[in-house]
Amino acid sequence: MKFSYVNPTQIFFGQGQIQAISSAIPADAKVLMIYGGGSIKSNGIYQQVSDALASHEWMEFSGVEANPTKETLDKAVALVKQHGIDFILAVGGGSVIDGSKYVAASAHYDGDGWDILTGAHQVTSATPLAAILTLPATGSESNSGAVITKAETHDKLAFLSPFVQPKFAVLDPDVMKSLPEKQLLNGVVDAWVHVCEQYLTFVHDAMVQDGYAEALLRNLKELGANFDNRDNDAWRANLMWTANQALNGLIGSGVPHDWATHMLGHELTAQWGVDHARSLAIIQPSLLRNQIETKRAKLEQMGRNVFNLPQSDDLALKTIDAIEAFYHSLHVPTKLTEYGDDKQAAIDKVISQLEKHGMTNLGEHQAISIAHSRDILNLAIA
Ligand code: NZQ
Ligand code: ZN
Repeated sequence: MKFSYVNPTQIFFGQGQIQAISSAIPADAKVLMIYGGGSIKSNGIYQQVSDALASHEWMEFSGVEANPTKETLDKAVALVKQHGIDFILAVGGGSVIDGSKYVAASAHYDGDGWDILTGAHQVTSATPLAAILTLPATGSESNSGAVITKAETHDKLAFLSPFVQPKFAVLDPDVMKSLPEKQLLNGVVDAWVHVCEQYLTFVHDAMVQDGYAEALLRNLKELGANFDNRDNDAWRANLMWTANQALNGLIGSGVPHDWATHMLGHELTAQWGVDHARSLAIIQPSLLRNQIETKRAKLEQMGRNVFNLPQSDDLALKTIDAIEAFYHSLHVPTKLTEYGDDKQAAIDKVISQLEKHGMTNLGEHQAISIAHSRDILNLAIA
């Protein structure tokens, strides 16, 4: 274990915290508020944010779509440059926050912002930004990552930069009251897989990271089991905080990471528009079955410590079955069915995109080759 850890995002957690932005944003800042398709207009969040910004100079950009595209976001980049914006306030879920990170970094670059995603441009500065989270799932509100789509070519790529880490994030669980059931379920599943990506690898000695990861998984399992009681302050607060902790850098410090499920899942979203969390539920059980030998010890540990399963020769397999049953209990499918009618062509398409994106050696050992990915897709696509 050797690592350097800081999470510099200040968290304002709890009911009524949106008003904290009045003093958290510098008084003389020229603010651009960025949001999505308009849910914040109908659930009252837009009004709360406008009230809190009453003494600031601000303007807005709306229409950031789920799985945000560079085509849409480039219009916001132009706005930031044209109006000399010096603070970005993202109000939304992972898509709006990720999109705002792209805008913040691209506004400090003269070329095409997509260069940031391809690696042709390294981010060295960005417009400061903050987030008001409306959908707990991605952890984007207090991490340095963003995932952006180029609609023209169906490419969905990620970038990481400390310069786009939000200065602060407001986590008011009341914003979840207007979330459709499907998005709440997506949040449980995405957070669950984030923990798995940093935990289901190989055995190491990091007791804090493993123990905390298991606590977060048990929380999510319990929140899923109590889904019928979701209209409840404690349920909402616990999901919001658990999803945040799942991807704020702490449990991933100094331990091996996987992320293969995410890389394959992103290709399903880019091709067929599958919701991010649902793409993960489709890939992960098949990937775990394919990788059972390399992950056996950690799967057994998860079986004992998260699912309370007894020791047995097939404990690893039983743990994968329990993960899949967890998704099914949430009515989240684990096979891709909406890809047209030619399974082979669908697999070939994903494989060629993985190759194009350099995703040819995935997983904690960089041992998930294109041949493995093909086998995984063959299992995951109905
Ligand atoms: O567009 P609006 O009106 O905001 O509606 C959204 C959208 O339709 C709606 N919604 C959000 N909050 C709501 C609400 N509806 C009613 N009430 C509310 N309070 O929910 C829909 C989905 O929103 P979206 O932001 O797309 O969902 P999510 O938070 O799951 O974000 C998914 C994106 O994040 C990326 C994914 O790839 C995907 O593009 N990820 C980002 C990560 C990161 N930055 O660390 C990690 C993740 O693994 C993930 O890849
Ligand atoms: Zn995710």
